[in-house]
Amino acid sequence: MDRELFQHEHGIIGKSLEIQEIVDVVQQVAPSDITVLITGESGVGKEVIARALHNAGKRAKKQLVTVNCAAIPEGLIESELFGHEKGSFTSAVESRKGYFEIADGGSIFLDEIGETPLATQVKLLRVLENGEFMRVGSSVPRKSDARVIAATNKELQYEVQQKRFRPDLYFRLRSVNIAIPPLRNRREDIPLLIEHFVKEDLQRNGIRFGGFTDDATELIMNYRWPGNVRELKNTIESMLILENGRRLTGDDVRKYLKEYQGPVVDRNLPVVANRTVEQAERELIYRALVDLKGSILELRDVILRGVPSPDMPEEANAKGARGNGVMTLDEMERKMIVSSLDRNEGNRRLAAKELNISERTLYRKIKEFGPQE
Ligand SMILES: Nc1ncnc2c1ncn2[C@@H]1O[C@H](COP(=O)(O)OP(=O)(O)OP(=O)(O)O)[C@@H](O)[C@H]1O
Ligand SMILES: [Mg+2]
Repeated sequence: MDRELFQHEHGIIGKSLEIQEIVDVVQQVAPSDITVLITGESGVGKEVIARALHNAGKRAKKQLVTVNCAAIPEGLIESELFGHEKGSFTSAVESRKGYFEIADGGSIFLDEIGETPLATQVKLLRVLENGEFMRVGSSVPRKSDARVIAATNKELQYEVQQKRFRPDLYFRLRSVNIAIPPLRNRREDIPLLIEHFVKEDLQRNGIRFGGFTDDATELIMNYRWPGNVRELKNTIESMLILENGRRLTGDDVRKYLKEYQGPVVDRNLPVVANRTVEQAERELIYRALVDLKGSILELRDVILRGVPSPDMPEEANAKGARGNGVMTLDEMERKMIVSSLDRNEGNRRLAAKELNISERTLYRKIKEFGPQE
């Protein structure tokens, strides 16, 4: 099929050589059952490519089951992937199918495969090699005919070196690797993407748009886009809606680009490799305590001298959630998480990195805080 038509059909925007090559590979391998590994920074479009692989293949009429391996607690990942038998663990009151069984005949998208625990990796290798797996609590092998598409933003080779990823699984996955370059390395795609997102936003919000001035366009074209296409999409949407569709100048645009908003305060905590979840949590609490201590010192200043400190956090100037001007550790933690998510356009991986906690811990905390995110 003609490349442009294929891109149009599968919503893959871009005309850079890099995108052209990727689309060619997608067209080539989609009809087969070969396992594909998609790599690239956060927000480059890994999921877009995964969907195209499924939808352009012979399994398109069956399901594409997406599994975010980072979001599932370690203790549950095997029963989620492979299912379990009744009574195999305390909460297993019924036997249940896993994602590989559900995806039988279709495809399974293992997103963030770099986050799977080592013990589970052996089982993934087995299912990749001969389609065989066992439900948790059962010793009867079952078969799944699911086409596997995997994605990661980690350098799997580095993970292998660090002994966090099995080399045999890595080699097995790597046979077809679609590496999507960051947006800053294929800037020719930016105008097309903008045009597309603007059109989408205008339709969705029923506003008109006066366009960009030349210096605004220049700024956008030269920006680093650390959050890649996702960041571009979110930025366009915010600018259009918050500026009510009026013509945007360079100064307008600058307000919306993270890297022009001054450096992110770097807290002076040591970064330790291979931290356990508990260690990471302790660090988070420690950091909240440091912040709390800072606020208390500032509050003391205010009380003693009667002057509000200019750099005191707004929430400490106002009242804490309990109305007594004091925030609990939970409230602080929640605030830190919410503001980090805001700063990172809702990207949990980047937020987790910034907060120095594992993505899994972040997912759990968001769940604990309730449905606000
Ligand atoms: N080439 C593209 N054409 C159209 N839309 C795109 C393209 N690349 C990315 N997008 C859009 O950008 C957003 C992010 O893409 P996607 O979710 O596929 O990224 P990702 O690489 O999976 O990111 P993460 O690693 O954070 O999961 C989505 O809204 C997606 O539709
Ligand atoms: Mg993704």
